[in-house]
Amino acid sequence: MSEFIAWDESFAVGIAGIDHDHWHLLQSLGVCYAQYRDSPATYAAADFLSDVHARLAAHFALEEKYMRRSGQPDLVPHQAAHAALLDAVSDRMEDHYDNDQPFDDAAFTAFLRAWLIEHFRTSDAHLVAGSEVP
Ligand SMILES: [Fe+2]
Ligand SMILES: [Fe+2]
Repeated sequence: MSEFIAWDESFAVGIAGIDHDHWHLLQSLGVCYAQYRDSPATYAAADFLSDVHARLAAHFALEEKYMRRSGQPDLVPHQAAHAALLDAVSDRMEDHYDNDQPFDDAAFTAFLRAWLIEHFRTSDAHLVAGSEVP
C-alpha cells in the first residue's frame, strides 16, 4: 500500500526537530488513512477526520512554539495558515455529521496532500534555522 505522502527530501527545512516532526506527521497520517481505507466500519470518517485534526494541531503547536522562541517574523500569518487548515478539516467534519453530507475521502485527501506539500515547500521552508532560544 502506498504511503499517504511519501517523505521527500524536498520537504526538508534544515531544522532537525521540525523535519522529524514533518516526517512523523506524514507517517501518522498514513496510518490513519490506511486504517480508514481498510476498516471503515470500525474506523469511520469521523474517526479519521478527528485524528487528522489532532495530528495536524500537534504539529502546528510544536512548529509555532519554535517560531515564537526563535522570534521568526512571519509567525502571525503562518499561524493563520495553520488555523485555516484546521478550520477546513473541522468544516469537513461538520459537513459530514451536522449536515449529513457524504465524506469524499478522495477529494479530502487530495486537498490535504496538496496543502501540506505546498506548505512544506513555501511557508515552512522559510523557517530560519539555528536561532532557537534555549
Ligand atoms: Fe507551518
Ligand atoms: Fe510544518
